Amino acid sequence: MRADKYLAHCGMGTRKEVKKMIRDGHVFVNGEMIRKDDFKIDEEKDEVSVDGLLLHYEKSVYYMLNKPQGVVSATMDDRYATVLECFDCFLPSDVFPVGRLDIDTEGLLLISNDGALAHDLLSPKKHVDKTYYVECENVITPAMIEILENEIVLKEDRYQPGKVIAYEDHWLKLVIQEGKFHQVKRMVHAAGNEVTYLKRIGFGPLQLDEQLKCGEYRRLTDEEIKQLKKGQRI
Ligand code: URA
Repeated sequence: MRADKYLAHCGMGTRKEVKKMIRDGHVFVNGEMIRKDDFKIDEEKDEVSVDGLLLHYEKSVYYMLNKPQGVVSATMDDRYATVLECFDCFLPSDVFPVGRLDIDTEGLLLISNDGALAHDLLSPKKHVDKTYYVECENVITPAMIEILENEIVLKEDRYQPGKVIAYEDHWLKLVIQEGKFHQVKRMVHAAGNEVTYLKRIGFGPLQLDEQLKCGEYRRLTDEEIKQLKKGQRI
């Protein structure tokens, strides 16, 4: 792989920035300074460092973020901070949020650069469970649960039945398999209530790590990655 591509992949900057890094003599391969951005790097064998920092090449990365409110599920935005700005580590330049949470929704968001996995996880055909903790303005009634657990047909859209796995007066845990725009808020509204707080606590086999405070992230474990990939097309 070309040196500039390798460095960008390791999160060292944009293609333009890393080219400059190389030309300015900051990059070493197996201890030797390189000066050409098309220098060929063997990502399996070569030891690459930038100003003494040894880089670790991984084709795909997988992070669990506890998304805070106020950031958007995008890689770039003119008005708001993006979820990528929660990260203070180097990220490959091609990472993206797998799916979307509204700006005022918190919780589990997968950040990866594995396009094939993301495609499968988001495909409606795959029926991946998304579990939400939902706080509601008004008292939750059995009639409301009944509505949430049946198909909801609105003028603008229709939603498959959800599953309420727990509830008390003002909160419930709802599992849905679709991921439509404002889906939980709209389902709750259709059931005669309003969402006051929304947090995703499960995504497929992943559970939000309770150790992660809002805005914190961690890498997925090998076991979590294995579970996520189960059932993925090869
Ligand atoms: N449903 C919503 O209404 N908002 C989200 O962010 C996610 C699901």
